[in-house]
Amino acid sequence: MATNGSEVKHQNGNDTFRHQEVGHKSLLQSDALYQYILETSVYPKEPACMKELREITAKHPWNLMTTSADEGQFLNMLIKLINAKNTMEIGVFTGYSLLATALALPEDGKILAMDINKENYEIGLPVIEKAGVAHKIEFKEGPALPVLDQMVQDEKNHGTYDFIFVDADKDNYLNYHKRLIELVKVGGLIGYDNTLWNGSVVAPPDAPLRKYVKFYKDFVLELNKALAVDPRIEICQLPVGDGITLCRRIS
Ligand SMILES: C[S@@+](CC[C@H](N)C(=O)[O-])C[C@H]1O[C@@H](n2cnc3c(N)ncnc32)[C@H](O)[C@@H]1O
Repeated sequence: MATNGSEVKHQNGNDTFRHQEVGHKSLLQSDALYQYILETSVYPKEPACMKELREITAKHPWNLMTTSADEGQFLNMLIKLINAKNTMEIGVFTGYSLLATALALPEDGKILAMDINKENYEIGLPVIEKAGVAHKIEFKEGPALPVLDQMVQDEKNHGTYDFIFVDADKDNYLNYHKRLIELVKVGGLIGYDNTLWNGSVVAPPDAPLRKYVKFYKDFVLELNKALAVDPRIEICQLPVGDGITLCRRIS
């Protein structure tokens, strides 16, 4: 098979080829490279409040759930680039992505933030308040889906959101999409997080996956397929963090 990729010699002596796709430009090949990105471009620019929240969150037993610093930086810039004002976040945890969003929004910007767990939000809240951006946030405790159902019923909410970040229960992403597509503006963005799901999207059926990774894998695969054929959106899947798919509503 012809390839245009670089040859890699594995310890077992087998040769395999990387980067076989035409136009493949991904450079991220190792943890060291990821660390390099964090230390060179992310941490030096990370606002002090985000660093404080990241360090508080690192002590949480579920710290694995937090948005990574490079993704926080990406969201912050994206929101500024699209001049978002009215936003929504589903899945807050201690609030790292929420703070990244709140810092990027103008003074009169808004975030409707939803999570079933208020305790974790309250861990980060003092940092958010100290940063002077808490007034932009309306936090709703409870499952997001019924709130979205209620919002969709009122036509006044249709097409009102500039940016929506979804980072909660993966088994509901398609249910969220059905509602969010009504609520986001034409030209606005929905970002679905974890669309590469720990790399499990390409794992063979018998791969030894952690239980929760295995449980949600098929939902993520189904979402990725559905987004790719949805004529109402343009999409762009980025390998930032655990994979984020940006969906721009076009109709
Ligand atoms: C991956 S974490 C979110 C991480 C967060 N974006 C951050 O920056 O740290 C997922 C969150 O979704 C919340 N969640 C789970 N099911 C939910 C639901 N049905 N509705 C709203 N939030 C939910 C969990 O409580 C958890 O805090």
